[in-house]
Amino acid sequence: MKVWVVGGAGYIGSHVCKALRLAGHEAVVFDNLSTGLRENLAPGTEFQFGDILDVSSLRAAAAAHRFDGVIHLAALKAAGESMTAPEKYSRHNITGSLNLLEAVVEAGIPRFVFSSSAAVYGLPDYVPIDERHPTRPENYYGHTKLVIEGFLEWYGRLKGLKHGVLRYFNAAGYDPEGEITGLEQNPANLLPIVMEAAMGWRPKVQVFGDDYETRDGTGLRDYVHVTDLAAAHVLALERLHGGGEDFIVNLGTGEGVTVLELIERARAITGRAIPSEVVARRPGDPAVVLASAGRAAELLGWKARYSDLDTLLETTWKAYQANERKVVGS
Ligand code: WQD
Repeated sequence: MKVWVVGGAGYIGSHVCKALRLAGHEAVVFDNLSTGLRENLAPGTEFQFGDILDVSSLRAAAAAHRFDGVIHLAALKAAGESMTAPEKYSRHNITGSLNLLEAVVEAGIPRFVFSSSAAVYGLPDYVPIDERHPTRPENYYGHTKLVIEGFLEWYGRLKGLKHGVLRYFNAAGYDPEGEITGLEQNPANLLPIVMEAAMGWRPKVQVFGDDYETRDGTGLRDYVHVTDLAAAHVLALERLHGGGEDFIVNLGTGEGVTVLELIERARAITGRAIPSEVVARRPGDPAVVLASAGRAAELLGWKARYSDLDTLLETTWKAYQANERKVVGS
């Protein structure tokens, strides 16, 4: 397949491009490089510089090839920021996605895989969270993802657009082969924050609350390796290409790791001190978020291979160390 990867230079997108290539497909990347990095793409990857808010360049890019499908990963993703700057999230995530949908339909691209999030569920009524769990986002970011899922359903009905929705739980890790090492700037998630502390780039890790009802009192999450996420995008497009029905699936492992467990194991793997301190809970954080991952296994034949805690930490540490060498060598 020839696949249009919108947002393909980003953290998840660059891993998706690699997975497509390894599966024998061709990726053409469209990205505005606001957070994405050209260096994360394999040499020879066709690159279209553009923005989903620029309708004319988007339409031209959509029509530049006969694409078999599109994977949409171009979005802002800081849940906290979405609560203070919702207009920014409306513009980039909602308007941008509508622009993309229009361009895709106009260019006759028949299949659409969408990067969604567990944030659509909000506070869990029960865990593990299956796809039938009510969707009541707690942050505006999650709302934007849910709105786009709704658009996809309608474009499916009205325009025949085949679509698959992937609801990621906590994405983490880096390419196990060490080819993708460009880091996210100003990361807001736990694992990169822990790595920055290990590198000495930040003084310590703040643990947001240790009085939750979990085995050690700290927040428990379902971390899923980005290479496993990437594989699911390939399987999703292949399913649609093979005539499979539209679908929504969770991508998680169903296994939980607490904040303290992650920090402890990071200390062992990096050999660094990683100072930490317990501070107040972060508003809106649930105690436990866990996926029920059965549907992705059933529909896509997907299975997490790299999402155990040690592989998550080791691959991320390797990427951070590659950056230390870059800094030292520059
Ligand atoms: C993980 C755990 C924190 C930072 C977010 C979004 C979600 C999705 C994934 C995009 C929690 C704790 C964190 C820190 C800490 N985003 N923590 N100190 O909140 O589970 O999910 O990212 O799709 O929509 O909400 O991820 O990495 O921020 O936090 O103690 O400095 O680590 O309280 O228990 P979260 P996270």
